[in-house]
Amino acid sequence: MISVVSTSRADTLALGGLVADVLIPGDTVVLTGELGGGKTAFVTGAVQGLGSEDLVSSPTFAIVQEYFGPVVIAHADWYRIGHAQELFDIGFEELLDGSRVVFVEWGDRALEIVPDCYLQVSFRHRANIDERDITLVGQGPQWQDRIVGLQRSIRAAEKFLATDATL
Ligand SMILES: Nc1ncnc2c1ncn2[C@@H]1O[C@H](COP(=O)(O)OP(=O)(O)OP(=O)(O)O)[C@@H](O)[C@H]1O
Ligand SMILES: [Mg+2]
Repeated sequence: MISVVSTSRADTLALGGLVADVLIPGDTVVLTGELGGGKTAFVTGAVQGLGSEDLVSSPTFAIVQEYFGPVVIAHADWYRIGHAQELFDIGFEELLDGSRVVFVEWGDRALEIVPDCYLQVSFRHRANIDERDITLVGQGPQWQDRIVGLQRSIRAAEKFLATDATL
């Protein structure tokens, strides 16, 4: 697990950019945590880092939107999902065919749709209005080595305050 503190939206964008450096089509990133935690900000930084110039916005009403660039990106928001069946009904699983990098805000609302292997990024407010605790956990064997590499690049960025000895 990687644990960091972001002290600004810009920091969270930069963290998304660092994560983007290790993402390839077929990867899924699940973003969880409080309302206004910074999930969409993180995705914005990651989409830019993946080389897309498309405008990132919250897909709450559309449930999923796509961005284009060197790779195809799907950005979903399951905040309003009541039941996983709604996602089967819109054919969400087709987006997980390995051809896209997939970001899912509130992905924990229907984990049965998420592949076994994914990166979970969680956000929590801190007392300071612009600070967030952010944790990154790799689920599944494919993430074990990559988490170590990611830890190294986050440490090298010298931007993020470590909250514990894991960084
Ligand atoms: N350190 C920080 N990281 C990210 N966002 C921050 C930070 N500090 C302040 N903010 C502000 O908090 C808000 C985060 O909004 P954002 O839409 O990214 O959150 P979210 O987790 O996607 O919310 P929702 O649950 O509604 O989808 C923005 O207004 C942003 O400017
Ligand atoms: Mg959001």
